[in-house]
Amino acid sequence: MKLFSSMSAVTLAVMSTSNAFAADFNFTSKLAKGDALVVFQNVDSDANLKFLDRDTRKQLQRAIKTDAFTGKYGKTVDVLAPVDSKYSRIVVVGLGQSSELTAAKMAKLGGNIHAKLEAKKIANVSLAFESVQSDVENSELAAQFAHGANLRDYTFEVYKKEPQAFNVTYNIDVADKKQTIKRYQELANIEQGVFLARDLTSEIATEMTPVDFALEAKSLEKLGVKITILEPAQLKELGMGALEGVGRGSKEGARLIVAHYEGNKDTPIALVGKGITFDSGGYSLKKGPSIARMKSDMAGAAAVLGTIKAIALNKADVNVVAVMGMAANMVSRYSIAPGDVLRTAEGHSVEVVNTDAEGRLVLSDAMWYARKHFKPEIMVDVATLTGSKIRAVGNRYSAIFSEDDVLVEQMTLAGKQVNEQVWRLPLGYKDTLSSDIADFTNLGSSGPGATTAATFLQQFAGDTRWLHIDIAGNALSSKAKGEVPVGGTGYGVRLLSEWLLKNHK
Ligand code: BES
Ligand code: MN
Ligand code: ZN
Repeated sequence: MKLFSSMSAVTLAVMSTSNAFAADFNFTSKLAKGDALVVFQNVDSDANLKFLDRDTRKQLQRAIKTDAFTGKYGKTVDVLAPVDSKYSRIVVVGLGQSSELTAAKMAKLGGNIHAKLEAKKIANVSLAFESVQSDVENSELAAQFAHGANLRDYTFEVYKKEPQAFNVTYNIDVADKKQTIKRYQELANIEQGVFLARDLTSEIATEMTPVDFALEAKSLEKLGVKITILEPAQLKELGMGALEGVGRGSKEGARLIVAHYEGNKDTPIALVGKGITFDSGGYSLKKGPSIARMKSDMAGAAAVLGTIKAIALNKADVNVVAVMGMAANMVSRYSIAPGDVLRTAEGHSVEVVNTDAEGRLVLSDAMWYARKHFKPEIMVDVATLTGSKIRAVGNRYSAIFSEDDVLVEQMTLAGKQVNEQVWRLPLGYKDTLSSDIADFTNLGSSGPGATTAATFLQQFAGDTRWLHIDIAGNALSSKAKGEVPVGGTGYGVRLLSEWLLKNHK
């Protein structure tokens, strides 16, 4: 299977693995003639745009007045420049209060401005970055703008007759060119992880089975990532009856995929991902149109694999392993039935009261494997786990669960820094998981669904520091916005990369 994602590059070129180049960035110290010029304006700016009076014969000042433009974040003024002007058109972009301008806001703006320029078919753009006022470094902001534009530019086009062809070239004037390029390359590597996660998530379920996913994981070997793949017979032998059980309904069965990037010899961090390549609900069949979105139920696995790619490309000084529990939750004559009891490798037996609560089953064995084989310092699992999470916090946040306040604080900060915000919800409710026949049921008898699911997972964390991220609702977007296009979002790659690279120590 051939995956397809757009990618962009600095002139000094990062790596080029894919075919579509739809945004190019040159970091320069002089702006090109004939381009559209984009200038920035803070609300509290002490600079003014008078230097453009001659080039616009004061049209710009007039437009600013007419539109009552004050430099509010995200607002723009756009004028066509006179024929004798150096530029074809001039766009002023508001940045808000300089003290409130963050890296995350700049990435979001990069996405929105890029979409706007592309919609207007503006092919050459000069960005005057030096007028930007902020407490954040200019080089960081310029790199984040480019990052946001690249992230927004991605499209999944495998099934489209006509690929997106339009290309925008940016010349960005920055004071510290070297520093900007260095930071941009780091972010471009993270983009590659995000694009992988988006490709995996957007691909249709019949083309992205556990075996297909395993092949994609294998392709990370060239980056020095060690890949291990366990098949159903091996899962059974190791006692992973929950993962193996969920996989029984599909022809190829379950897989456990391990991707280890050993950037140093520290105790590893384990990332565990839910990889349900399609969630029909099984015999507890899903009803209604939402079932058509269930190709994205492997987005947790995609996020942790994408993170490994991002970290490996950055040759980061961390030891991190991703463990992915892969299966298709299907109806067939071999599927598990409601009321069945599965044996987990941890030793807990689980009564499957509802076959649609399958994520916690595959995760239980994946978490056990991560602990048993890697004795991680910290374990973070990522899963499109519950509809209840969406009802609780919607899709602008993911939900996090942990008894470790330090981890919660670190993840919350990382989320703010990359625009993938998290909100803490409670654990507890262990008593609701009791079963008449087994050690637990996979369905709480009462209590909020996102919390009972998280509490179930907690039974498989042992005494390892652990945090669970429920990304239901975050994995597929139906509307492009900021740095996020339509389709698979790759949610979690930027969050986890930021946490691993900056916050976890
Ligand atoms: N994959 C779903 C959760 C989900 C729902 C993700 C909507 C994204 C969007 C999960 O496996 C599931 O079916 N959960 C059930 C659990 C219930 C049966 C206890 C749910 O949340 O309804
Ligand atoms: Mn389900
Ligand atoms: Zn599911």
